Amino acid sequence: MIKGIKIGIGLLIMTAIVFMAACKKNDIPPKPTPIPPVVGPTAYSWEDPLFFQQMIIPGDNPFTVEGIKLGRMLFYDVRLSGDDTQSCADCHFQENAFGDPNQFSTGIDGIEGNRQGMTLENLGYQFDYFWDARSETLEEQIIQPVINPIEMNALWSDVIEKIKADEEYMALFAIVYGTTFIDSNHVAKVMAQFLRTVVSSESKYDKWRKGEYFFTAEEAHGFDLFQKEGGDPELGQGGEWGADCFHCHPLAGMQFSDYLLHNNGLDSIFTDLGRGEVTGDPNDFGRFKTPSLRNVEVSAPYMHDGRFETLTEVIEHYNSGGHASSTIDPFMKYTQGGLQLSDQDKLDLIAFLKTLTDITFLADTSYSSPF
Ligand code: HEC
Ligand code: HEC
Repeated sequence: MIKGIKIGIGLLIMTAIVFMAACKKNDIPPKPTPIPPVVGPTAYSWEDPLFFQQMIIPGDNPFTVEGIKLGRMLFYDVRLSGDDTQSCADCHFQENAFGDPNQFSTGIDGIEGNRQGMTLENLGYQFDYFWDARSETLEEQIIQPVINPIEMNALWSDVIEKIKADEEYMALFAIVYGTTFIDSNHVAKVMAQFLRTVVSSESKYDKWRKGEYFFTAEEAHGFDLFQKEGGDPELGQGGEWGADCFHCHPLAGMQFSDYLLHNNGLDSIFTDLGRGEVTGDPNDFGRFKTPSLRNVEVSAPYMHDGRFETLTEVIEHYNSGGHASSTIDPFMKYTQGGLQLSDQDKLDLIAFLKTLTDITFLADTSYSSPF
């Protein structure tokens, strides 16, 4: 065996000598052509939590270990803003389910927006992003805050220059894409990879669903109300005096949102047209993306304009039936005197909503700042 290898090596050396001699004969200077070792990205296999639907992972942006690592670093990097003072995480706080405890977030130039920061959780199970669903993909969404004048107010060309000056970033980008010619799309893609891994699936509700937790009497009653039809059976078909939350915040898929756009009766006269702002269609006036109710306990203030500070105020809104308008959703009980929940019902509904808090997620260090 060893002899065989020795003979093999001997042959190789001899061939090399003959080859070199041949070169010398023709006087061709030996050209060094170093071939860099090809290091590809490390594949990352994703497993959907129990009872979740299949995550939507775009074919041109598969998970890679290095991509996720890069995305996480960039999410916390202030160099993505015009004056190096603000990162994505300055408006999206992990302890608030990556939402914003301020009613309106303030960009680098101190200009306040008119919409409440959204939570970033289970984004890979959603479609259409922003309160008015104006971005169809997460990759497309991520391009926006960087150039938004009332947010990070930067030029992508400047941001790319800053990233290119960072050797650690460039070494990782070279692994992920096999090139150092990167642009905003490469950056958005790796950030989308990271954000798709930001998944909440360990709440009391998840544990209950897996048979690992038992609801208290209050939580169980709140859950019952949540999934019962609202209203008086004599006035509306199927009425069960429930809270009627499940139509727009469904249990199927485990996200507590249909992620569609509804008008949940906040106003009769709209100051923010929501989806209508994007389409110009009067049928879309006042319609906004239904948010997930996961971690809702820690994501106050509520609604697209952060008008409610507490869950009690939110429940009072739904209990009232909401304000009539041309686009109010038929599931709102505005024509029937509201839901008519008792004080105990309201407390129990809130107790149920709190079972959606995922303390593991809120403190998970794989999502926290890597710096
Ligand atoms: C100045 C505060 C601010 C900064 C900085 C910021 N965001 Fe946001 N983010 C918001 C607000 C406000 C909204 C909702 C805006 C709207 O709907 O018009 C939002 C919405 C989002 C959404 C949509 C979520 C959904 O469910 O539809 C994503 C994703 C997101 N931001 C990611 C990011 C990323 C990534 C960065 C960094 C590149 C970032 N944000 C920087 C305030 C901010
Ligand atoms: C007609 C559909 C619909 C029904 C029914 C409905 N919701 Fe909503 N919910 C929405 C929409 C749409 C929003 C966002 C509205 C906005 O900001 O303009 C929302 C927002 C919320 C929010 C704020 C979340 C956040 O992050 O800001 C909470 C909490 C909430 N709903 C709880 C409930 C509860 C509890 C019920 C039952 C009593 C319920 N919803 C019934 C559609 C609905």
